[in-house]
Amino acid sequence: PAPPDRPDLYPGVSSTYFHDEVGPGSKLLSKSPRGQFFLDPNRVNPVVLLSAGVGLTPLVSMLNAIVEVGSDRPVWFIHGSRNSSEHALGAQVRSVGQENSNVQIHIRYSRPLSGDQTGRDYDEKGYVDIELVKRLVPRPDLDFYLCGPTPFMKSLFTGLLEWGVSESHIHYEFFGPASALQERAKVAPAKRKAEISQCCQDLEVNFIKSGVKANWNPSFESILDLAEANGLSPDYSCRSGICHTCLCKLEEGEVEYVLEPLEPPEAGSVLICCSKPKTPLVIAV
Ligand code: FES
Repeated sequence: PAPPDRPDLYPGVSSTYFHDEVGPGSKLLSKSPRGQFFLDPNRVNPVVLLSAGVGLTPLVSMLNAIVEVGSDRPVWFIHGSRNSSEHALGAQVRSVGQENSNVQIHIRYSRPLSGDQTGRDYDEKGYVDIELVKRLVPRPDLDFYLCGPTPFMKSLFTGLLEWGVSESHIHYEFFGPASALQERAKVAPAKRKAEISQCCQDLEVNFIKSGVKANWNPSFESILDLAEANGLSPDYSCRSGICHTCLCKLEEGEVEYVLEPLEPPEAGSVLICCSKPKTPLVIAV
């Protein structure tokens, strides 16, 4: 159904279908997992798993994967929720912490209910912020994994960079447009701007709405990557051809996909997160 506070909205198509039509015995076609937000449970480096709200789901999978292989790598699992009524998987995560001495769990509730107990449901009142992370985690040269609402992502991403965490050690997934990226642009210089060479003069990409022209270089992973290195901030979310957030109008030219989209875009448009130029391009960015 539509959200209780917005009955005017159309009910969610996928979730409604799953609730109403799918059950034990249903057969579903599925694609294999994709994307860049994953953790190798067999590595030994310490990891910090930071989440808020329902963003904890991939991080609980990472936590489970680490303990299931019997790893003793240090893990900090730090999560923020409003209170126990919105805190998924709390008891399960707490028991993982109790059974594994290498795993530290810390839960914050922003608005605990009167029946919520510290030590059982949560550890402290408040939001997960960089000051908490700096207090619980000994040093910044670790691997950090983030997932949660955009304000949480922006504040933690910026805070971690300012604390001295290398950008290559911050792994994240967020849902929605690229506001976290825009924040990143203010904090960290564009990654490969200095690497743009003269090697591909004939593959110019004209981002026509922004008035920016850039030459393609094989060091870029995608047209989105090229746009970002040239100071642009197109919207994106999954960066792996799933969500279509990065869909743009292709005014001229041809692209090829470095990663096949889950659903191909309509003719005349392009998913810039997973494509590169085949010919000079004019794109409505
Ligand atoms: S960002 Fe999701 S398809 Fe491009």
